[in-house]
Amino acid sequence: MAFELPNLPYAHDALAAGGMSRETLEYHHDLHHKAYVDNGNKLLAGSGLEGKSLEEVIVATYGDDTKAGLFNNASQHWNHIQFWEMMAPTPGGMPGALEARIKDAFGSVEKFKEDFVAAGVGQFGSGWCWLVLDKGALKVTKTPNGVNPLCFGQTALLGCDVWEHSYYIDFRNKRPAFIQNFLDKLANWENVADRLAAAGG
Ligand SMILES: [Fe+2]
Repeated sequence: MAFELPNLPYAHDALAAGGMSRETLEYHHDLHHKAYVDNGNKLLAGSGLEGKSLEEVIVATYGDDTKAGLFNNASQHWNHIQFWEMMAPTPGGMPGALEARIKDAFGSVEKFKEDFVAAGVGQFGSGWCWLVLDKGALKVTKTPNGVNPLCFGQTALLGCDVWEHSYYIDFRNKRPAFIQNFLDKLANWENVADRLAAAGG
């Protein structure tokens, strides 16, 4: 089935108070995400994977050098769908059960945030940093370019896009400040908790 660009789950200016401007979302969703969808559809045609789900296409093409273009665009399409859902205009606090799991895994919420920012800052060049569920354990990871937790059989609970197109308009070259702001003002903790519960974690 063809890839389709979903609408943002909020207005383009809905995250501005949280530090992500209308201009960033117009570029990031309307142009960058759309390009992954358009290019992905061109590469999907004739690939033999047309009948597969987006997730199946990603897993089937990961590590296949002959389908690297399809993988990159399909995975970035999936990553951005998750990213939009993982932010909220007025995010509430961390639900208690999630906070307890994070404290168990990392020692404190502050230490989790430190690890998450360090992963995103430590990703040389373009990529993502993640909170994942991996065989029942919460972990912070980083991935290059479009690679995502699906490639490793992990569940993505929270992901932050650290490609420059994600932050350059609002934060210029300050990637650490962008990721810290994402955690403090944009991360949709209810969504993270829902993902954890859906994964049986
Ligand atoms: Fe992006």
